[in-house]
Amino acid sequence: MSADPLLAEQIAYYRAIANEYQDHYIEAPGAQRQIDAFNKFDIRGDVLELTCGQGQWTEQLVGRASSVTVVEASPEMITLAKGRVGEASVRFIQADLFSWQSDQRYDTVFFGYWLSHVPEERFQTFWQLVADAVRPDGWVFFVDDNYRTEAELIEGPGSSVVERRLNDGTKFRAIKVPYDASGLERRLQELLWDVTVEESGPFYWGTARPQN
Ligand SMILES: C[S@@+](CC[C@H](N)C(=O)[O-])C[C@H]1O[C@@H](n2cnc3c(N)ncnc32)[C@H](O)[C@@H]1O
Repeated sequence: MSADPLLAEQIAYYRAIANEYQDHYIEAPGAQRQIDAFNKFDIRGDVLELTCGQGQWTEQLVGRASSVTVVEASPEMITLAKGRVGEASVRFIQADLFSWQSDQRYDTVFFGYWLSHVPEERFQTFWQLVADAVRPDGWVFFVDDNYRTEAELIEGPGSSVVERRLNDGTKFRAIKVPYDASGLERRLQELLWDVTVEESGPFYWGTARPQN
């Protein structure tokens, strides 16, 4: 359990929504370009996936990697991902990413729809975790979106706190930072990443490696 109440609530939200996660996918043009970029990216070697959710990306990674390690806080999501990809092909680590450290380096670090849930004040620490987990000749690839509805902006558009609801109406607060491609690229360049971020509609994706 996270000591930060908002981050603990975010984990509780994803635990509660695990079995209906697919009901809350956003419908907007642009998703296909992101999927095409994921399919084109040269995912190889030992892969670290940060948050697997129900395992839809994990399933794709398994076919392209030598090994896949997943870090995910929700045991419910891990159970669903295991149901999809099996237990033998993936090392699942149940952990809070805000207190987890990698015990090895990977050729590819991938995260889907996770970066936007990292609070802005933890952005730099999070990217240090990523830098520490990727091999010097490795690559980072990420996909995400910046989609937020008026209704969920309970603290207004200037805040990254949003309210999400389960199908039964239960409310949770979560983080949703609305990055745009050029702003995110600049921010990562300031942290000394070689990085390219592209976008299509509310969807974006990026390729990055620490500058040597
Ligand atoms: C938007 S979902 C993305 C899931 C998956 N990557 C995908 O693209 O479908 C966010 C995921 O982050 C996980 N999560 C939330 N807070 C976390 C934390 N502090 N540490 C690790 N995982 C966390 C949730 O359980 C959920 O699976």
